[in-house]
Amino acid sequence: MSIIFAVKKSAFYKTILILTSLTLFFSQLKCTAPVKPVEAKNGMVVSASTIASEVGVKILKEGGNAVDAAVATGFALAVTLPYAGNIGGGGFMVIHLSDGTNTTIDYREKAPLSAFREMYLDEEGNVIPRLSLEGALSVGVPGSVAGMIYALKKYGTMPLEKVIQPAIDLAEKGWVLDESTANGFKKFVDVFKKYPSTYKVFTKNGIPYEEGDVFKQPDLAHTLELIRDKGADGFYKGKVADLIVKQMKEMNGLITYEDLENYNPVERNPVTGNYRGYEIVSMPPPSSGGIALIELLNILENFNLNEEGWGSSLYIHRLVEAMKYVYADRTVYLGDADFYPVPVKELISKEYAKEIFKKIGDAAVPSTQISAGNFNKHYESPQTTHYSVYDANGNAVSVTTTLNSEFGSKVVVEGAGFLLNNEMNDFVEKPGVPNQFGLMGGEANSIEPEKRMLSSMTPTIVLKEDKPYIIVGSPGGSRIITTVLQVILNCIEFNMNIQKAINSPRIHHQWMPDTIFCETGALDDDTKDKLTEMGYSIVEGEITIGMAEGIMIDNKSKIIYGASDTRGTGAAAGY
Ligand code: DON
Repeated sequence: MSIIFAVKKSAFYKTILILTSLTLFFSQLKCTAPVKPVEAKNGMVVSASTIASEVGVKILKEGGNAVDAAVATGFALAVTLPYAGNIGGGGFMVIHLSDGTNTTIDYREKAPLSAFREMYLDEEGNVIPRLSLEGALSVGVPGSVAGMIYALKKYGTMPLEKVIQPAIDLAEKGWVLDESTANGFKKFVDVFKKYPSTYKVFTKNGIPYEEGDVFKQPDLAHTLELIRDKGADGFYKGKVADLIVKQMKEMNGLITYEDLENYNPVERNPVTGNYRGYEIVSMPPPSSGGIALIELLNILENFNLNEEGWGSSLYIHRLVEAMKYVYADRTVYLGDADFYPVPVKELISKEYAKEIFKKIGDAAVPSTQISAGNFNKHYESPQTTHYSVYDANGNAVSVTTTLNSEFGSKVVVEGAGFLLNNEMNDFVEKPGVPNQFGLMGGEANSIEPEKRMLSSMTPTIVLKEDKPYIIVGSPGGSRIITTVLQVILNCIEFNMNIQKAINSPRIHHQWMPDTIFCETGALDDDTKDKLTEMGYSIVEGEITIGMAEGIMIDNKSKIIYGASDTRGTGAAAGY
């Protein structure tokens, strides 16, 4: 634990600044989504791109199931949501089938074989700024293509060529740029300039793209065609692999042919929990999301949250105190469970939650006085996007996928037309040093060859009487978990419809820094005064917390409600 407290105060202030500035990309997006959810009778796709949602719904209408539609949406997002949709990143898919099966597909990126623990440190042991965030060394071995194809083969009904073709057409023929995407390109133009292959894709020979321009991606179209024709081998072997390895060699990156050939998606049992009779099905390690969400819900179940009033100081106090304990546990215990013995059962047990509940009184406890749980000696040593899909047969899919930062490593593979992730920053570069989301960690999430970096992505399906009730997830780095938590609480505790549950302003606390981040409107003046009197420090303003995409199913009326977050420009499309 000492590593955590070794962090200097200044690092926390830096973190606050980083967390605040990270939100600016999203806060520039126009609020165009409706205030009421979209209603449908047969199926629904909600994503951060209207075009991608429509691609998914077309697949449903043509008889595809939720997995077919999810994979079609995923490939379309790689074309129409360049800052986060991807084939050069990774993600997680949580699936509930109408026969009752719950499963997850882990296609998180892996550290290259030659990665090592101190790879981002200089000779004096200090973190070299931005090395894990930008350029070839920040790239983890991509998993998206292998994962989506695995899911399609095992749980889909349609051939790859059918579900990938819309993405190929969009990349080849182009699509009309909306304001927020064009602005996103402009915002990063100086960074892109450093990488000629990226500059070539995201500008018109150096001239910025404008809203209304048709954006074509011929190299990406060709890469997608190779995947269509050869499956995962079209990406991990042959021409695309040649281009990735060439790019790595030119930029001193680590990924080799062997890394690409070795990449494997893993099907894992979901982590499951129970909140007031609702079953929570979510992502296990290497995501911290599912465990943290269930731990939070287990603690909060002990309070009468709905009696406290949404947004009241007591409600916020309880949420925040629970968040502190859970993020402290995340810091110490969470990592890739294939490499580190994560105490999953202990962390999601009702008994452990009860212990934490008992420690939450009326006072704000400073984060420095809160530490991770102590299970047994064994453990002591040591821009993203979400889419939700539901089909006419009751199958549900919840996917969160990421390049990590907006536009990932900022490196487009020359000739292959896609961006590579900068997921290596999700590892611990040095104990006690916060990553871009202010998250810290230790042994559990240290860099090792072929290990998967810890994630906060929380694609989740909530079941009511064994049937899908809420399908939800979000981007937002460390704030993903608290976003998903608040959407679920808004629905279950405060009876909000899914659109209101998603639109409602949110708060966030992640143990360190000891600060409540809050969106405008989350806390009224009186509540802020009370919380300040209790000793909380509050940061409010230019902050958005998450960008959720959700579906709620009313199994009595059989109406499917879709809601895209008003913080973004996505859409729910149903039929
Ligand atoms: O896996 C994770 O937790 C992060 N790489 C997610 C990054 C993210 O959500 C960025 N979007 N705002």
